[in-house]
Amino acid sequence: MRHVISSGQYTRQSLEEIFELADKIVNKPEKYSKSLDGKVVSIMFYEPSTRTRLSFESAVQRLGGTIISTENAKVYSSAAKGETLEDTIKVISGYCDAIVIRHNEDDSSERASKVSSVPIINAGAGKKEHPTQSLLDLYTIKQQKGRLDNIKLAVLGDLLYGRTIHSLVKLISLYDNISVYGLSKKEFALPQKYIDYMNERNVSYTICSSFDEIPSDVDVLYHTRTQYERFDGNTGREEFIINKEVLNKFSKETILLHPLPRNEEISTDVDEDPRALFFKQAHNGVPVRMAILLQCLDKSF
Ligand code: NCD
Repeated sequence: MRHVISSGQYTRQSLEEIFELADKIVNKPEKYSKSLDGKVVSIMFYEPSTRTRLSFESAVQRLGGTIISTENAKVYSSAAKGETLEDTIKVISGYCDAIVIRHNEDDSSERASKVSSVPIINAGAGKKEHPTQSLLDLYTIKQQKGRLDNIKLAVLGDLLYGRTIHSLVKLISLYDNISVYGLSKKEFALPQKYIDYMNERNVSYTICSSFDEIPSDVDVLYHTRTQYERFDGNTGREEFIINKEVLNKFSKETILLHPLPRNEEISTDVDEDPRALFFKQAHNGVPVRMAILLQCLDKSF
């Protein structure tokens, strides 16, 4: 069964298949409008979401499938009555053809996949991974740069709790001649295991302490918000804010991405800059998730 659990499960070839399918969907959406006819997809979100949830729902419906879901699964599903994730998944996998799940626990998707009779798609697991986000991030980079080899990527913000970062650095490690730069407050540094993962795949990782230490010709600036919901305590002001002045230190070719939602780490004065592509990135979520769903349900062609 084709589960989507971790970015680590992909190869260059399997990514290429998804990106090609996403391109085909963009170019000829009508060809795919009935591909999931008769299929039911369950959307189980135990944490808040705007983009991931709605783009998955849009993706299912644009493919002609239907959705079953529960509003705020943590509060309104039987989790509130003490049911284990395993029991919930065993039950709902009998109601549908695939389950898209977002959960606060790091190993939630693995656990779900062990008991599910239908494909599990990880739509965000605790602080660990968010593979479908990193697929659309890479799709956006490829769309803008025309390549995924020879990329200089700077990751910024909450590198400790940011699951989109963890999935992204794993995925980009599939490519050749990749340099990654990290800029965060010290207490939000990237965990060593992700640095090791990159180094084992010949990706260099450089810890920066200011914007000036990121090369001005970096291809991608990927910022993230502090994941306040994952820890107690106050972290004080955002230290690394990208505003017009900061963005202008970088090349005309540097693109600015963010998984969204943003807080103060990217100021709105960059929104009209053609390099600020985070809204386009969010929109790419629909065709990429359509391609992911088709693959999981063996309907890709
Ligand atoms: C991200 C997430 O949920 O991890 N959001 C998203 O899916 N686009 C990032 C975040 O919440 O900061």
